[in-house]
Amino acid sequence: MTNTWCGGEFLSYKTPSALLLNPDQSFNSFGFDAEREYASLTEYDKDSEKYFFFQRFKMILKSSMEKRVHRKTQCTAENGISIDAMKVFTHCINYMREHLLKRIKYINYLISASITMDNFYFVLTVPATWDDTAKMFMREAAVQAGINNDQLLITLEPDAALVYCHLMHLESPDNETFLLETECGAKCMVLDLGGTSKITIHQLKEDGTSGELVSANGYGWGGTSIDRAFNKFLTSLFGERVMHIFQTDPEYIEDYFEFWHQFEVKKRAFEKKRNNNKDEHKETYQPEKNVFQIRIPLAIREIVAKLNKQGEMAAVINDAIQQLQYTNDLRFENGKLIMKSSFFEEFFKPTVEILINHLIKLYTEIGKDLKVILMVGFFSECSVIQEAVKKEFEGKCRVVVPNQAGLAVVKGAVYFGHQPDLITERVSRYTYGIETWPAFNETKHDKSKRVVMDDVPRCKDVFFKFFSKGDIIKPGDKKSYIFKSFRPNAKALDCGVFISNKKNPKYVDDEGCAKLGTLTIPLDGVDRNVYIKESLIFGDTELYVTACNCINKMVYKFTLDLLSEYINLS
Ligand SMILES: Nc1ncnc2c1ncn2[C@@H]1O[C@H](COP(=O)(O)OP(=O)(O)OP(=O)(O)O)[C@@H](O)[C@H]1O
Ligand SMILES: [Mg+2]
Repeated sequence: MTNTWCGGEFLSYKTPSALLLNPDQSFNSFGFDAEREYASLTEYDKDSEKYFFFQRFKMILKSSMEKRVHRKTQCTAENGISIDAMKVFTHCINYMREHLLKRIKYINYLISASITMDNFYFVLTVPATWDDTAKMFMREAAVQAGINNDQLLITLEPDAALVYCHLMHLESPDNETFLLETECGAKCMVLDLGGTSKITIHQLKEDGTSGELVSANGYGWGGTSIDRAFNKFLTSLFGERVMHIFQTDPEYIEDYFEFWHQFEVKKRAFEKKRNNNKDEHKETYQPEKNVFQIRIPLAIREIVAKLNKQGEMAAVINDAIQQLQYTNDLRFENGKLIMKSSFFEEFFKPTVEILINHLIKLYTEIGKDLKVILMVGFFSECSVIQEAVKKEFEGKCRVVVPNQAGLAVVKGAVYFGHQPDLITERVSRYTYGIETWPAFNETKHDKSKRVVMDDVPRCKDVFFKFFSKGDIIKPGDKKSYIFKSFRPNAKALDCGVFISNKKNPKYVDDEGCAKLGTLTIPLDGVDRNVYIKESLIFGDTELYVTACNCINKMVYKFTLDLLSEYINLS
């Protein structure tokens, strides 16, 4: 069951990431509803500035989520005020949960069923470009939103997409399974083209599972770059001031949203028409004869009239068309901008070029082992992009665009909930280790770190690595090392656990390092020359440290809170 959301004339399987909170930070509305509410609010309510409106907050959060996320990571609303991102996510997830609850009630009523929330297992997806801790962050937000911790799986979006493609034959008998037939060791690139582009490379394994090979890369360009290009074009026609007022003046917010929804519908329809025409009349498709047209909102007309004493928008546009030498491609008629298809296709070109160049670069690095490029995300359904990728990689590797590529992540997440073992490994985004004070070595260690303890020269603050940034790790992975306590008189041994965003940190106070926590092992009443075995173990979402006294076999365990706001990678 996939929900359909309604944004005026625009029906979609996805609703925009828009959230409106009341001035007291309580929930107001989400998605298309939030856009509508915010628009009417800004127009009629003098207190509208006190409301918190977040739109495309995935992008607002992009930079902070790709850094280290913690419980107090902030997110800035349109009114310029920041609040906890945790709160924003909790409201969104809670909305989804309540929405589902209503649907369940309705289904129960319709078919006299007695489905409850306990019958559900939730899968939340996060972009692979997000930091390790973002998964933990989402778990905490989901739990705060009332989802039971035991009924929740957090997964990465490319993983879900891969699982979808692995199992898609269930949906359509025409689709072959592609993972099963692809030889073991083969590399597969998941190209998730949505509002932005995300690329991950996976290696397929014998048992049908796959591991993430290269950690994810995210780029600003994607479906939304076409919108940005079009916005730039409109700015060239009407001028910066007009577009700025259109975008920011509360009076026009509703028209602004409506215009971009209209553009979205037209963009998709244009693209489909172009595609169908091409299929039907392969030889006769002539972009010059087809047109793309879009109605210019009355709001823009009004703004132009206010700013421009002559007042006539048509005159302003026609002047601009002349000046910009668009006369062969573009005209303004009955309130609509009408342009040749070939002119509209130009808005796609820079995005296509950047994407293809990037893929070529990656292909040069990966080489012939790359067997499949898997295109998912709604922007992958766009034929301009598909054609470009297929053309470039023809004869080099398979380009697979699954049925309903746009829903691959969502549907894959559902499959994933049933078969979570399919993706097992991932690339560590950080280096993890502990602090040690080994014997001082003139050739290896810095003089400034030299200390003498019990007559032995030692090097303090050495970062002893357990897992390196870039290492392949999977839940349950464990690494251990045996140390000897070097301070016979100490009552306890403190084991500091550290994280670093560098691959080879030398000292725990190097740039990019931070302390995750300290495990204290009591040494009272034991032989203080004892050997201690320290282990770091990756859980699904957390990191455990254990220390075992090798003599008396006492084990001490400590769970590190990777979401703490006090961990600061300087
Ligand atoms: N047929 C189409 N032609 C051109 N662009 C399209 C088409 N269908 C969707 N898009 C674009 O794809 C983007 C939405 O894709 P999708 O829903 O997969 O993104 P998302 O998952 O919301 O974003 P992201 O993955 O970046 O967080 C939008 O920018 C939309 O305009
Ligand atoms: Mg997406």
